[in-house]
Amino acid sequence: MPLILGIETSCDETAAAIVRDGDVVVSNVVASQIKQHAPYGGVVPELAAREHLKALRPVLEQTMAQAEMTFNDLDAVAVTSGPGLMPALLVGLNFAKGVALNAGLPLIGVNHFLAHICGAFLDGGSKELMDSGNYPILALVVSGGHSSLLLIEADGSARQVGFTIDDAAGEALDKAAKLLHLGYPGGPVIQKTAEAGDPSKYHFPRPLTGAAGKPVAPEHRFNFSFSGIKTALLYHSRREGDENGLLSGQLLHDSVASYQEAIVDVLCRKTMDAAKHYNASSLVLCGGVACNSVLRERLAEKSPKHLKLFIAERKYCTDNAAMVAGLGYYMFRRGEFAAPDIDAFARLPLISHAPFVPEEVKSV
Ligand code: KG4
Ligand code: ZN
Repeated sequence: MPLILGIETSCDETAAAIVRDGDVVVSNVVASQIKQHAPYGGVVPELAAREHLKALRPVLEQTMAQAEMTFNDLDAVAVTSGPGLMPALLVGLNFAKGVALNAGLPLIGVNHFLAHICGAFLDGGSKELMDSGNYPILALVVSGGHSSLLLIEADGSARQVGFTIDDAAGEALDKAAKLLHLGYPGGPVIQKTAEAGDPSKYHFPRPLTGAAGKPVAPEHRFNFSFSGIKTALLYHSRREGDENGLLSGQLLHDSVASYQEAIVDVLCRKTMDAAKHYNASSLVLCGGVACNSVLRERLAEKSPKHLKLFIAERKYCTDNAAMVAGLGYYMFRRGEFAAPDIDAFARLPLISHAPFVPEEVKSV
């Protein structure tokens, strides 16, 4: 019954959590920096690092208090080592090194991208998902930094079968909100504004889907591209908006609903096509954009009966440390500990295996 402490500082959330056995969340604390970054319309890496430095200690203390535990109760410390913002990652990684060293615990360096997938395993999800009959798993990871489709086989081999060739879905939502002066972060405010709008009122492009009659190059069949939709919104606001290009009232609601619809439509089409092509048995939806109600509902609606759908709970979609501790558990089980000189990394490396496979399976 390993107990793992997770620590997360890859972007603008300072988080710590304790997870038992890979899926029982014992305590989970997230301190958001949204207020500090909002005036800049996006995350400022150096500001994020400074805020993490201030928040880490109280967040950890709160996590330990919530769990009513001491470091003696723990088995390992898992920390996000990348991908993410370098200054922010370094603060968390060095803090975690100190905690592990002080407490005499092994350190595990966690890939944030894979940790998002573990967000769907928490609070009971893993027991069901870890059934070997559910492989291959296709995971749609959609966040501020990623829009990817990862295929995971029962032996633990994994590969990215689709990725964005420009902006991530969350980035497209955040940039749209900035363009429309709706504030930061964009995802939640876009969803709220879209609720009173007609998603079929305006047509925004569906890049790399062949929807406009333009054939898709085979190598882009499962890839995403969102920057064209964003540019289309810029031209739309210049055309339809007031003299400053501002949209308001029903025009704003309809525009935002149509924009969100284009993104959701592309994500669902590509995911369904990939699930069919790779004969996936189950589908995981995770990452901050997975909070979006329209996406959650649409994916459920479009999933054929034989495809088991695992959608991360909203609190485990946006950045948190429970997903980090969750992935840490699977790495702990495989003895994948960090070297003492472990460094942070900014970009997503090539993924060839995922540690979350059924225990009885001899994995790669
Ligand atoms: O996973 P996350 O917290 O951080 C990254 O790893 O990037 O994802 C943040 C992203 C932001 O782009 C934010 O706008 C988006 O998730 N997001 C949403 C919603 N809530 C957050 N996007 C769409 N609808 C939402 N309700
Ligand atoms: Zn994230």
